Amino acid sequence: MRFGVLSTADIGVESVIPGIVASEHEVGAIASRDASRAESVADRHDIPETYGSYEALLDDETLDAVYIPLPNGLHAEWIRKAADAGLHVLCEKTLTASAGETAAVFDYCAERDVTLMEGFMYRFHPLTERAAELVESELGEVRNVTSTFTFRLPDGAEDIRIDPDLAGGSVMDVGCYAVSAARLFLGTPERAYGVTNDERDCGVETEMTGVLEYEDGATARLQSGFETPLTQYYRVETTDGWLRAEPTFDIGVENSTQLTYSVDGEETTESFDATDHYRLEVEHFADSVESGEEPRVDRDESVDIMRIIDALYESSDDGQPITLN
Ligand SMILES: NC(=O)c1ccc[n+]([C@@H]2O[C@H](COP(=O)([O-])OP(=O)(O)OC[C@H]3O[C@@H](n4cnc5c(N)ncnc54)[C@H](OP(=O)(O)O)[C@@H]3O)[C@@H](O)[C@H]2O)c1
Repeated sequence: MRFGVLSTADIGVESVIPGIVASEHEVGAIASRDASRAESVADRHDIPETYGSYEALLDDETLDAVYIPLPNGLHAEWIRKAADAGLHVLCEKTLTASAGETAAVFDYCAERDVTLMEGFMYRFHPLTERAAELVESELGEVRNVTSTFTFRLPDGAEDIRIDPDLAGGSVMDVGCYAVSAARLFLGTPERAYGVTNDERDCGVETEMTGVLEYEDGATARLQSGFETPLTQYYRVETTDGWLRAEPTFDIGVENSTQLTYSVDGEETTESFDATDHYRLEVEHFADSVESGEEPRVDRDESVDIMRIIDALYESSDDGQPITLN
Protein backbone atom coordinates (compact mmCIF):
# COMPACT_ATOMS: atom_id res chain seq x y z
CA MET A 1 0.00 0.00 0.00
CA ARG A 2 1.28 3.44 -0.92
CA PHE A 3 0.62 6.14 1.68
CA GLY A 4 0.51 9.90 1.42
CA VAL A 5 1.18 11.80 4.65
CA LEU A 6 -0.69 15.00 5.44
CA SER A 7 1.72 17.30 7.30
CA THR A 8 5.14 17.17 8.89
CA ALA A 9 3.70 16.46 12.37
CA ASP A 10 6.16 15.09 14.92
CA ILE A 11 4.27 11.84 15.39
CA GLY A 12 4.43 11.15 11.66
CA VAL A 13 8.07 12.11 11.21
CA GLU A 14 9.36 10.36 14.34
CA SER A 15 7.11 7.30 14.60
CA VAL A 16 4.52 6.48 11.94
CA ILE A 17 6.56 7.17 8.78
CA PRO A 18 9.35 4.93 10.18
CA GLY A 19 6.62 2.37 10.97
CA ILE A 20 5.40 2.44 7.35
CA VAL A 21 8.98 2.23 6.07
CA ALA A 22 9.65 -0.78 8.32
CA SER A 23 6.57 -2.54 6.94
CA GLU A 24 6.08 -3.92 3.45
CA HIS A 25 4.22 -0.71 2.58
CA GLU A 26 5.64 2.64 1.50
CA VAL A 27 5.30 6.39 1.82
CA GLY A 28 4.80 7.75 -1.70
CA ALA A 29 4.35 11.43 -0.84
CA ILE A 30 4.25 13.97 1.96
CA ALA A 31 2.53 17.38 2.04
CA SER A 32 3.05 20.40 4.23
CA ARG A 33 1.63 23.91 4.34
CA ASP A 34 5.28 24.83 3.74
CA ALA A 35 6.85 22.95 0.80
CA SER A 36 10.36 23.25 2.25
CA ARG A 37 9.29 21.39 5.41
CA ALA A 38 7.86 18.59 3.29
CA GLU A 39 11.13 18.45 1.31
CA SER A 40 13.24 18.22 4.42
CA VAL A 41 11.17 15.30 5.81
CA ALA A 42 11.21 13.66 2.37
CA ASP A 43 15.04 13.87 2.32
CA ARG A 44 15.24 12.32 5.77
CA HIS A 45 12.90 9.43 5.00
CA ASP A 46 13.56 8.98 1.31
CA ILE A 47 10.03 9.92 0.24
CA PRO A 48 9.82 10.36 -3.55
CA GLU A 49 7.19 13.15 -3.85
CA THR A 50 6.45 16.34 -1.91
CA TYR A 51 3.59 18.84 -2.05
CA GLY A 52 3.19 22.36 -0.69
CA SER A 53 -0.49 21.81 0.12
CA TYR A 54 -2.60 18.95 1.43
CA GLU A 55 -5.03 19.35 -1.50
CA ALA A 56 -2.26 18.74 -4.03
CA LEU A 57 -1.30 15.45 -2.34
CA LEU A 58 -4.88 14.21 -2.53
CA ASP A 59 -4.69 14.58 -6.34
CA ASP A 60 -1.72 12.19 -6.51
CA GLU A 61 -3.15 9.19 -8.33
CA THR A 62 -0.30 6.89 -7.32
CA LEU A 63 -1.52 6.81 -3.70
CA ASP A 64 -3.81 4.22 -2.09
CA ALA A 65 -4.22 5.75 1.36
CA VAL A 66 -3.43 8.73 3.54
CA TYR A 67 -2.09 8.92 7.06
CA ILE A 68 -3.48 12.02 8.81
CA PRO A 69 -1.52 13.35 11.80
CA LEU A 70 -3.03 16.85 11.74
CA PRO A 71 -4.27 18.60 14.90
CA ASN A 72 -7.46 16.92 16.17
CA GLY A 73 -9.70 19.82 15.13
CA LEU A 74 -8.71 19.36 11.47
CA HIS A 75 -9.14 15.58 11.22
CA ALA A 76 -12.81 15.50 10.14
CA GLU A 77 -12.31 17.96 7.28
CA TRP A 78 -9.33 16.06 5.85
CA ILE A 79 -10.85 12.62 6.36
CA ARG A 80 -13.75 13.76 4.17
CA LYS A 81 -11.46 15.28 1.54
CA ALA A 82 -9.33 12.13 1.42
CA ALA A 83 -12.44 9.95 1.10
CA ASP A 84 -13.66 12.18 -1.76
CA ALA A 85 -10.35 11.41 -3.47
CA GLY A 86 -10.99 7.68 -3.04
CA LEU A 87 -8.17 7.23 -0.51
CA HIS A 88 -8.32 4.94 2.52
CA VAL A 89 -7.64 6.80 5.76
CA LEU A 90 -5.51 6.03 8.80
CA CYS A 91 -6.08 9.04 11.08
CA GLU A 92 -4.56 9.91 14.42
CA LYS A 93 -6.53 9.92 17.64
CA THR A 94 -8.81 11.51 18.52
CA LEU A 95 -10.57 10.95 15.26
CA THR A 96 -12.78 14.04 15.56
CA ALA A 97 -13.96 16.37 18.31
CA SER A 98 -17.37 14.76 19.04
CA ALA A 99 -19.16 11.41 18.85
CA GLY A 100 -21.64 12.77 16.29
CA GLU A 101 -18.82 13.89 14.01
CA THR A 102 -16.99 10.59 14.45
CA ALA A 103 -20.08 8.64 13.39
CA ALA A 104 -20.55 11.05 10.48
CA VAL A 105 -17.03 10.59 9.10
CA PHE A 106 -17.38 6.80 9.29
CA ASP A 107 -20.66 7.05 7.35
CA TYR A 108 -19.00 9.39 4.86
CA CYS A 109 -16.12 6.95 4.25
CA ALA A 110 -18.44 3.94 4.03
CA GLU A 111 -20.52 5.71 1.37
CA ARG A 112 -17.34 6.20 -0.67
CA ASP A 113 -16.16 2.65 -0.03
CA VAL A 114 -12.94 3.62 1.73
CA THR A 115 -11.65 2.22 5.03
CA LEU A 116 -11.20 4.55 8.00
CA MET A 117 -9.26 3.63 11.14
CA GLU A 118 -8.28 5.66 14.20
CA GLY A 119 -4.61 5.38 15.13
CA PHE A 120 -4.67 3.92 18.64
CA MET A 121 -1.30 2.21 18.21
CA TYR A 122 -1.22 0.71 21.72
CA ARG A 123 -4.09 -1.63 20.73
CA PHE A 124 -1.61 -3.44 18.44
CA HIS A 125 1.18 -3.89 20.99
CA PRO A 126 1.55 -7.50 22.21
CA LEU A 127 1.33 -6.13 25.77
CA THR A 128 -2.25 -5.01 25.37
CA GLU A 129 -3.19 -8.03 23.24
CA ARG A 130 -1.96 -10.24 26.10
CA ALA A 131 -3.64 -8.13 28.79
CA ALA A 132 -6.99 -8.40 26.97
CA GLU A 133 -6.52 -12.16 26.59
CA LEU A 134 -5.68 -12.63 30.30
CA VAL A 135 -8.62 -10.54 31.45
CA GLU A 136 -10.92 -12.45 29.12
CA SER A 137 -9.69 -15.94 30.02
CA GLU A 138 -8.14 -16.05 33.47
CA LEU A 139 -9.00 -13.18 35.75
CA GLY A 140 -12.72 -13.48 36.35
CA GLU A 141 -15.21 -10.64 36.29
CA VAL A 142 -13.85 -7.10 35.94
CA ARG A 143 -14.94 -4.80 38.79
CA ASN A 144 -12.70 -1.79 38.25
CA VAL A 145 -10.27 -0.31 35.73
CA THR A 146 -7.93 2.47 36.78
CA SER A 147 -6.04 4.19 33.98
CA THR A 148 -3.88 7.28 33.87
CA PHE A 149 -1.99 9.09 31.15
CA THR A 150 -0.33 12.32 32.20
CA PHE A 151 2.81 14.19 31.20
CA ARG A 152 4.22 17.61 31.93
CA LEU A 153 3.75 19.95 28.95
CA PRO A 154 6.42 22.67 29.26
CA ASP A 155 5.20 26.01 30.59
CA GLY A 156 4.64 28.59 27.87
CA ALA A 157 4.60 25.92 25.14
CA GLU A 158 2.88 26.82 21.90
CA ASP A 159 1.22 23.53 21.22
CA ILE A 160 -1.81 22.16 19.39
CA ARG A 161 -2.66 20.39 22.69
CA ILE A 162 -3.64 23.63 24.43
CA ASP A 163 -5.34 25.29 21.46
CA PRO A 164 -9.15 25.36 21.78
CA ASP A 165 -9.53 26.04 18.04
CA LEU A 166 -7.72 22.78 17.23
CA ALA A 167 -9.68 20.60 19.70
CA GLY A 168 -6.90 20.53 22.29
CA GLY A 169 -7.23 19.38 25.89
CA SER A 170 -5.69 16.63 28.00
CA VAL A 171 -8.63 14.28 27.47
CA MET A 172 -8.40 14.68 23.70
CA ASP A 173 -4.64 14.20 23.74
CA VAL A 174 -3.93 11.51 26.34
CA GLY A 175 -7.11 10.89 28.34
CA CYS A 176 -8.53 9.22 25.23
CA TYR A 177 -6.10 6.33 25.88
CA ALA A 178 -7.40 5.89 29.43
CA VAL A 179 -10.98 5.98 28.09
CA SER A 180 -10.01 3.45 25.42
CA ALA A 181 -8.51 1.11 28.05
CA ALA A 182 -11.65 1.34 30.20
CA ARG A 183 -13.78 0.46 27.19
CA LEU A 184 -11.46 -2.39 26.21
CA PHE A 185 -11.76 -4.09 29.60
CA LEU A 186 -15.25 -3.04 30.68
CA GLY A 187 -17.21 -1.95 27.61
CA THR A 188 -19.54 1.03 27.37
CA PRO A 189 -20.52 2.66 30.67
CA GLU A 190 -23.98 3.75 31.79
CA ARG A 191 -22.82 7.02 33.30
CA ALA A 192 -19.79 9.29 33.26
CA TYR A 193 -18.70 11.87 35.80
CA GLY A 194 -15.85 14.22 34.93
CA VAL A 195 -13.97 16.98 36.71
CA THR A 196 -11.67 19.18 34.63
CA ASN A 197 -9.39 22.10 35.28
CA ASP A 198 -7.87 24.65 32.90
CA GLU A 199 -4.73 25.21 34.97
CA ARG A 200 -3.09 27.36 32.26
CA ASP A 201 -6.14 29.49 31.49
CA CYS A 202 -5.68 28.47 27.86
CA GLY A 203 -9.30 27.73 26.95
CA VAL A 204 -9.08 23.92 27.22
CA GLU A 205 -8.80 21.65 30.23
CA THR A 206 -5.28 20.63 31.14
CA GLU A 207 -6.29 18.14 33.86
CA MET A 208 -9.17 15.66 34.07
CA THR A 209 -10.35 13.09 36.58
CA GLY A 210 -13.22 10.87 35.52
CA VAL A 211 -15.38 8.09 36.93
CA LEU A 212 -17.36 5.73 34.71
CA GLU A 213 -20.20 3.62 36.13
CA TYR A 214 -21.34 0.35 34.54
CA GLU A 215 -24.68 -1.41 34.61
CA ASP A 216 -23.38 -4.20 36.88
CA GLY A 217 -21.88 -1.78 39.38
CA ALA A 218 -18.33 -1.96 38.01
CA THR A 219 -16.42 1.33 37.73
CA ALA A 220 -13.49 2.93 35.96
CA ARG A 221 -11.33 5.74 37.32
CA LEU A 222 -9.52 7.80 34.73
CA GLN A 223 -6.99 10.57 34.81
CA SER A 224 -5.26 12.72 32.21
CA GLY A 225 -3.26 15.90 32.34
CA PHE A 226 -0.43 18.13 31.22
CA GLU A 227 0.61 19.26 34.71
CA THR A 228 2.32 16.24 36.28
CA PRO A 229 5.23 14.03 35.12
CA LEU A 230 4.84 11.16 32.69
CA THR A 231 2.66 8.38 34.07
CA GLN A 232 0.91 5.85 31.84
CA TYR A 233 -0.67 2.63 32.98
CA TYR A 234 -3.84 0.62 33.34
CA ARG A 235 -4.75 -1.60 36.25
CA VAL A 236 -7.67 -4.02 36.09
CA GLU A 237 -9.23 -5.34 39.33
CA THR A 238 -11.25 -8.53 38.98
CA THR A 239 -13.09 -11.01 41.17
CA ASP A 240 -10.13 -13.42 40.98
CA GLY A 241 -7.18 -11.05 40.91
CA TRP A 242 -5.71 -8.04 39.16
CA LEU A 243 -3.49 -7.01 36.24
CA ARG A 244 -1.28 -3.98 35.85
CA ALA A 245 0.68 -2.82 32.77
CA GLU A 246 3.17 0.05 32.77
CA PRO A 247 4.26 1.76 30.58
CA THR A 248 1.38 0.90 28.36
CA PHE A 249 0.33 3.49 25.81
CA ASP A 250 3.26 5.51 24.41
CA ILE A 251 5.79 2.78 25.11
CA GLY A 252 8.45 3.90 22.64
CA VAL A 253 9.54 1.52 19.92
CA GLU A 254 12.91 0.90 21.56
CA ASN A 255 11.57 0.22 25.04
CA SER A 256 10.59 -3.06 26.60
CA THR A 257 7.63 -3.16 28.95
CA GLN A 258 5.90 -5.56 31.28
CA LEU A 259 2.66 -6.59 32.83
CA THR A 260 2.09 -8.19 36.18
CA TYR A 261 -1.01 -10.10 37.09
CA SER A 262 -2.31 -12.07 40.00
CA VAL A 263 -4.80 -14.94 39.87
CA ASP A 264 -6.00 -16.41 43.17
CA GLY A 265 -3.08 -14.82 44.97
CA GLU A 266 -0.37 -16.09 42.61
CA GLU A 267 1.58 -13.26 40.99
CA THR A 268 3.20 -13.47 37.53
CA THR A 269 5.22 -10.89 35.59
CA GLU A 270 5.58 -11.08 31.82
CA SER A 271 8.09 -8.96 29.91
CA PHE A 272 7.68 -7.71 26.36
CA ASP A 273 10.60 -6.87 24.09
CA ALA A 274 10.76 -3.56 22.28
CA THR A 275 8.12 -3.57 19.53
CA ASP A 276 7.21 -1.10 16.81
CA HIS A 277 3.49 -0.87 17.44
CA TYR A 278 3.21 1.83 14.77
CA ARG A 279 4.36 -0.72 12.20
CA LEU A 280 1.86 -3.22 13.57
CA GLU A 281 -0.89 -0.59 13.37
CA VAL A 282 0.00 0.21 9.74
CA GLU A 283 0.12 -3.48 8.79
CA HIS A 284 -3.25 -4.15 10.43
CA PHE A 285 -4.79 -1.16 8.66
CA ALA A 286 -3.46 -2.29 5.26
CA ASP A 287 -4.62 -5.88 5.89
CA SER A 288 -8.10 -4.58 6.75
CA VAL A 289 -8.24 -2.59 3.53
CA GLU A 290 -7.15 -5.61 1.53
CA SER A 291 -9.50 -8.09 3.21
CA GLY A 292 -12.44 -5.71 3.52
CA GLU A 293 -12.78 -6.75 7.19
CA GLU A 294 -13.45 -4.21 9.93
CA PRO A 295 -10.21 -3.01 11.57
CA ARG A 296 -9.64 -4.00 15.21
CA VAL A 297 -10.14 -0.36 16.19
CA ASP A 298 -13.49 -0.11 14.45
CA ARG A 299 -16.34 2.35 14.08
CA ASP A 300 -18.08 1.23 17.29
CA GLU A 301 -14.89 1.61 19.32
CA SER A 302 -14.06 5.08 17.97
CA VAL A 303 -17.64 6.34 18.38
CA ASP A 304 -17.93 4.87 21.90
CA ILE A 305 -14.66 6.42 23.03
CA MET A 306 -15.83 9.79 21.78
CA ARG A 307 -19.25 9.37 23.45
CA ILE A 308 -17.48 8.83 26.75
CA ILE A 309 -15.23 11.85 26.17
CA ASP A 310 -18.25 14.00 25.27
CA ALA A 311 -19.97 12.83 28.47
CA LEU A 312 -16.90 13.57 30.64
CA TYR A 313 -16.79 17.11 29.26
CA GLU A 314 -20.55 17.62 29.59
CA SER A 315 -20.45 16.33 33.15
CA SER A 316 -17.62 18.68 34.02
CA ASP A 317 -19.62 21.61 32.61
CA ASP A 318 -22.86 20.58 34.39
CA GLY A 319 -21.33 19.37 37.66
CA GLN A 320 -23.29 16.13 37.58
CA PRO A 321 -23.03 12.62 36.08
CA ILE A 322 -24.15 12.19 32.48
CA THR A 323 -26.09 9.13 31.36
CA LEU A 324 -24.86 7.76 28.05
CA ASN A 325 -27.67 6.77 25.74
N1 LIG B 1 -0.43 7.87 18.27
C1 LIG B 1 0.49 8.56 18.91
O1 LIG B 1 1.42 8.00 19.49
C2 LIG B 1 0.42 10.07 18.92
C3 LIG B 1 1.43 10.81 19.54
C4 LIG B 1 1.40 12.19 19.45
C5 LIG B 1 0.36 12.82 18.78
N2 LIG B 1 -0.64 12.08 18.22
C6 LIG B 1 -1.73 12.72 17.48
O2 LIG B 1 -1.17 13.13 16.23
C7 LIG B 1 -1.69 14.38 15.81
C8 LIG B 1 -0.53 15.35 15.64
O3 LIG B 1 0.17 15.49 16.85
P1 LIG B 1 1.69 16.05 16.88
O4 LIG B 1 2.07 16.26 18.27
O5 LIG B 1 2.55 15.21 16.03
O6 LIG B 1 1.45 17.46 16.20
P2 LIG B 1 2.47 18.56 15.66
O7 LIG B 1 3.87 18.07 15.73
O8 LIG B 1 2.13 19.85 16.33
O9 LIG B 1 2.09 18.62 14.13
C9 LIG B 1 0.86 18.99 13.64
C10 LIG B 1 1.06 19.33 12.17
O10 LIG B 1 -0.18 19.71 11.64
C11 LIG B 1 0.04 20.67 10.62
N3 LIG B 1 -0.91 21.77 10.83
C12 LIG B 1 -1.90 22.14 9.96
N4 LIG B 1 -2.60 23.16 10.45
C13 LIG B 1 -2.04 23.48 11.64
C14 LIG B 1 -2.32 24.49 12.61
N5 LIG B 1 -3.32 25.37 12.45
N6 LIG B 1 -1.55 24.54 13.71
C15 LIG B 1 -0.55 23.64 13.90
N7 LIG B 1 -0.23 22.67 13.01
C16 LIG B 1 -0.98 22.59 11.89
C17 LIG B 1 1.48 21.12 10.69
O11 LIG B 1 2.17 20.51 9.60
P3 LIG B 1 2.65 21.31 8.30
O12 LIG B 1 3.10 22.66 8.78
O13 LIG B 1 3.74 20.47 7.78
O14 LIG B 1 1.49 21.40 7.36
C18 LIG B 1 2.01 20.49 11.96
O15 LIG B 1 3.34 20.06 11.83
C19 LIG B 1 -2.73 14.75 16.86
O16 LIG B 1 -3.98 14.30 16.44
C20 LIG B 1 -2.29 13.97 18.10
O17 LIG B 1 -3.39 13.67 18.96
C21 LIG B 1 -0.61 10.71 18.27
